[in-house]
Amino acid sequence: MSSSASPLTASSIAARLRAAGCVFAEDEAALLISAAADPGGLAAMVGHRADGLPLEHVLGWAEFCGLRIAVGPGVFVPRRRTEFLVRQAAAAAPVRPVVVDLCCGSGALGAALASLADPAELHAADVDPAAVRWARRNLSGLGQVHEGDLFTPLPRSLRGRVDVLLANVPYVPSDDVGLLPVEARVHEPRVALDGGGDGLDVLRRVAAEAPGWLAPGGSLLVETSERQAARAEEAVGAHGLEPRVVVCDELYATVVIGTRPCTPTGAPAVPAPSPVPGASTPPTVPAPSVAPAPPGG
Ligand SMILES: C[S@@+](CC[C@H](N)C(=O)[O-])C[C@H]1O[C@@H](n2cnc3c(N)ncnc32)[C@H](O)[C@@H]1O
Repeated sequence: MSSSASPLTASSIAARLRAAGCVFAEDEAALLISAAADPGGLAAMVGHRADGLPLEHVLGWAEFCGLRIAVGPGVFVPRRRTEFLVRQAAAAAPVRPVVVDLCCGSGALGAALASLADPAELHAADVDPAAVRWARRNLSGLGQVHEGDLFTPLPRSLRGRVDVLLANVPYVPSDDVGLLPVEARVHEPRVALDGGGDGLDVLRRVAAEAPGWLAPGGSLLVETSERQAARAEEAVGAHGLEPRVVVCDELYATVVIGTRPCTPTGAPAVPAPSPVPGASTPPTVPAPSVAPAPPGG
């Protein structure tokens, strides 16, 4: 007895993806069809996606700030909300800034800022060798990628010279990692997600060391959740940086910016960045009330 598989169509793929829980099944089906080299490849891609692999890992790229960032199994997928952090960084950057992308993952933030701010120097670093491999690919010709714990692998010559320090650190509280969608929980490295007990362990370590690396007037920018914002702001301000919180309702994004004062009186070296579209600065950070939208959300 012979059997022949029926050809995959856009509607049959969408139906399979929808049954697997993909909310944007039609859009994803169209992307997979356009990315597949042949019917066998398409069938494999649909199978991987239906099994819960992140769409971006199946496609081999993620769209971020208008760029295609190469990603695959083993690396964190850059999130749309993090585009807000990059836009804030571009607004804060002086001409030809010295930029560091700490906890760089795929290198998406550094690549995006490079396209907006033409850095004089760009360095990225990550503790995970897999992330470093992806970042080297995405930042080829744009900057140097270093492997190691936080600031440890950076050239010492950067101390006191960094104008923009991007740090999208892991910030999911340890107990919440198990609540993330399967794409993150199963297919992204735990080191990319788990921020310790209250989610702020890595952020506190970055904030403690950042003043020694920032130029006068330079800024540290970190993403956090609405629920964590008050404690994240406190952590960023605990070592001499002037902190403020900016939010983007459209992207459900919260960013803490800590600026190194350039005089003993605390006057900033550069004027406070003008608001970027979609951004607002709350007078106070609201008390915790809603569950965070974690990086894996
Ligand atoms: C939330 S992911 C962000 C990746 C990337 N910046 C982005 O937004 O797409 C956090 C990254 O921090 C890295 N990381 C976690 N702990 C680290 C540490 N102690 N030193 C350096 N990198 C670390 C992880 O490997 C992961 O790539």
